[in-house]
Amino acid sequence: MLSEEEKQEIEAQSQHYPTTRALCIEALKIVQEHRGWVSDEGIADVAEALQMAAAELEGVATFYNMIFRKPVGRHVILLCDSVSCWIMGYDRLREHFRARLGIGLGETTADGCFTLLPNVCLGACDHAPAMMIDSTHYQDLDPDRLDEILAKYRMEEIREEKKEKRGPADGNTADP
Ligand code: FES
Repeated sequence: MLSEEEKQEIEAQSQHYPTTRALCIEALKIVQEHRGWVSDEGIADVAEALQMAAAELEGVATFYNMIFRKPVGRHVILLCDSVSCWIMGYDRLREHFRARLGIGLGETTADGCFTLLPNVCLGACDHAPAMMIDSTHYQDLDPDRLDEILAKYRMEEIREEKKEKRGPADGNTADP
């Protein structure tokens, strides 16, 4: 069953979409935001709420590659494997991910931080090779730039961990 929060967010979005079918991707994204991915149960919950057939919704979810039907890491890396990126160094980047994170396409790091997925053209062909992490685009990539970007995410993770350890009592304390 959808949580109250999920219901309210879907309800708020419903005003912006003319049909239930148009709303369904947004509803799936909301469930994914709350649960990390969209399980069969998530599909059933959204289908029930929108009064759609689960099979129809499943078709939409499978077609739309930003809906994750399997558990993913806290950060999802979409590495473009279309032609410009392929020519400009996709393979080198893929190998670099393997060397640095120990994962290949479709895999998640042991600490649950990153999932690496292939993706079709991200629209940055003139700045290939390109990738997206969560909703942020990165382009003109090479192994050094990848290292910088991954280090930034690692630092953010460490900061978050520290914040969690400090607990709510220190919630207003600025980061060092
Ligand atoms: Fe990679 Fe277009 S081919 S961004």
